[in-house]
Amino acid sequence: MVMKNDASIYVESFWKGHKTGDFEAVVAIAQESFSGMKNKINATRWLCANLAARPRMQYYIAKYNGIVAGYILWVEHGGFRPEAYLELEQIAVKESFRGKGVGSILIKSSFQNIKKDIEESDRKIKTVKITTGKDNVRAQVLYEKTLGAKIENIVKSPYRNEDIEVEMFVRY
Ligand SMILES: CC(C)(COP(=O)(O)OP(=O)(O)OC[C@H]1O[C@@H](n2cnc3c(N)ncnc32)[C@H](O)[C@@H]1OP(=O)(O)O)[C@@H](O)C(=O)NCCC(=O)NCCS
Repeated sequence: MVMKNDASIYVESFWKGHKTGDFEAVVAIAQESFSGMKNKINATRWLCANLAARPRMQYYIAKYNGIVAGYILWVEHGGFRPEAYLELEQIAVKESFRGKGVGSILIKSSFQNIKKDIEESDRKIKTVKITTGKDNVRAQVLYEKTLGAKIENIVKSPYRNEDIEVEMFVRY
């Protein structure tokens, strides 16, 4: 499945059948975007484990002029319920491609596709959750604009006690 959103950005479902170069690109983006994912072996193991959990976990990648520019990981919680509970678990755009609309298109296109799949199996989306750093205002604005997510909780980060996170939700 390929979604064309403008002249140069494509969003596509990402899975085991993709070529090695695409895997390496996703791992490299994770490494440069998240402090806890700097280790290449662990970043690769994480990617492989999540890909094996499809369709509970689903990756999409964005290609900008054919180059892998970002990825998003969606997770479904609590079973394949009639009223689905999804989490946007991770999104990252390669540093050199940020601010070009890749993140927005990645969220909107992948969500649209997941929603369609869920509705085709006679289910519907009930809740979407997204957690991000309290200071990551850019990500918060992005989630509000693209999904309509609102901040509901402010919590201590499970990764570092000194960091604060916001939990955002879309409730239908
Ligand atoms: C958050 C992230 C995914 C956004 O991706 P992106 O491709 O840069 O996003 P977009 O270009 O679609 O821009 C989204 C919004 O960010 C804001 N933005 C864009 N460039 C910005 C900049 N230089 N500084 C601050 N905000 C900026 C704008 O509000 C923009 O919306 P608008 O263009 O409709 O006004 C990307 O910055 C990233 O990978 N960050 C590191 C990893 C991360 O923080 N992930 C989320 C953690 S949960």
